[in-house]
Amino acid sequence: MAKDIPRTDDPHELSRRQFIRTTGGVVTGSLLAAPVVSSASERVPPPPQAQGPRKRIALVGTGIRGISMWGREVMAGSADAVEYVGLCDINPGRLAFAKGHIGVDCPTFTDFDRMLVEARPETVIVTTVDATHDQFIVAAMEAGCDVITEKPLTTDEVKCQAILDAQQRTGRDIVVTHNYRYAPHRARMKQLLMDGRIGRVTSVDFHWYLDVYHGADYFRRWHGKERFSGTLFVHKACHHFDLLNWWLDSDPAQVYANGALEYYGSNNDFRHTQCRGCPHQDGCEHYWDITANETLTRLYVDNEQHDGYIRDGCVWDEAIDIFDKMGAQIRYANGVQVSYSCTTYSPYEGYRIAFNGTEGRLEAWIKERQPWEEAPADEIRLTDNFGQTEIVRIEHGDGGHGGGDIRLHDRLFRTPDAPDPLQQAAGFRDGAMAVLIGVAARQSARGGQPVEIASLTSLTPEAVRP
Ligand SMILES: NC(=O)c1ccc[n+]([C@@H]2O[C@H](COP(=O)([O-])OP(=O)(O)OC[C@H]3O[C@@H](n4cnc5c(N)ncnc54)[C@H](O)[C@@H]3O)[C@@H](O)[C@H]2O)c1
Repeated sequence: MAKDIPRTDDPHELSRRQFIRTTGGVVTGSLLAAPVVSSASERVPPPPQAQGPRKRIALVGTGIRGISMWGREVMAGSADAVEYVGLCDINPGRLAFAKGHIGVDCPTFTDFDRMLVEARPETVIVTTVDATHDQFIVAAMEAGCDVITEKPLTTDEVKCQAILDAQQRTGRDIVVTHNYRYAPHRARMKQLLMDGRIGRVTSVDFHWYLDVYHGADYFRRWHGKERFSGTLFVHKACHHFDLLNWWLDSDPAQVYANGALEYYGSNNDFRHTQCRGCPHQDGCEHYWDITANETLTRLYVDNEQHDGYIRDGCVWDEAIDIFDKMGAQIRYANGVQVSYSCTTYSPYEGYRIAFNGTEGRLEAWIKERQPWEEAPADEIRLTDNFGQTEIVRIEHGDGGHGGGDIRLHDRLFRTPDAPDPLQQAAGFRDGAMAVLIGVAARQSARGGQPVEIASLTSLTPEAVRP
């Protein structure tokens, strides 16, 4: 079934339509029957004029995220605003491929410190393995650079404190690329909450479903080992926790969590090192032929000899030590209580969320990939206590993450000083708070006790985010 699914450059970005086509999904969906009160197109507008001279940027970590979202897409949409002055990776083969794929002629480096000295970037973009982000963030700031880092900011509280200290010492800027905030339907939720549309929010039900394709991909490589990813409580859920912090406009105070590994890893009778050459190909639902994708083959397979990085590793690897089902109770400094869960082997992908307020309820069931007909818009249901129910529709945006990736590029590279009425830009404190919920959840799930956010770093949770 999964065997022939075509992959985009980033396998996580398999589109909904592609999923329906490739799985032969049955068309059964129908729209909700409630009246539609609002419907808006959120198509990405033409790019705004870039402010000032081109910024000198360098990137460390030329994996798929580095070469696509922070490479080729930057060159395609923002080449008038930025100039690549250096690329760095420990894998020289991947580095050479990246240079051609992105389409730049800047110098390449396998030594990050050398790149800082010789390329003299103004801004460093960090897209390496999660557990290594801190070393590049700190070194870049010490060298006088601003930093744009992929999420998660880092993977544990000690590294987080080191980043906070370095930021204080140097006064440099850190942007954490919490691109989920920029998706149109999430921005609409933020606006409705800011408008007080359901009164004061008192609790949230938030449940995320990763499907058997995207979810499984986290277990094929470094993400499946806690020492690299911090578990999916950090690597993946930091997106979700950042959304909560942003929507609720408050800091997390306490986390109590559970997690277990019950599907991937050792939970199967057979296994191999990787999908290529696996004797169990025919009987494994998770068999994935990486060589069907030319970009991934040239980026990873062709460069295995340099560092032994296997991109199509076995999801049944007994060394996998992260949770594949997770649940957390989060208490916020403003009193809001959140029930969160994440499942990594669901038949479809998306999330359900409900904000319970003193005057009503705001809820959504956002489908990101499903084996039934795709609706043309996302829908938010608003229901007043003792009153009416209504649906707000938001058309799907063009581009990655519903157009969120393009909006994020524009804010970073073209109009960094533009007004930000929905507070979508995420700084280091936001990045830290998102990670600290994940760290607290991981500690709680391992230790069985609630964990106070204030016990982790020097950051003090505030009822209203500073
Ligand atoms: N915001 C999002 O939606 C999103 C989506 C995908 C990935 N990401 C993030 O992007 C980052 C990269 O993800 P990816 O899928 O491209 O991973 P990847 O493993 O494909 O790429 C990581 C690259 O970093 C390099 N690297 C590792 N250690 C290094 C070191 N010490 N020095 C220099 N280079 C080093 C590796 O060789 C590799 O090329 C991760 O932090 C991930 O969490 C974010």
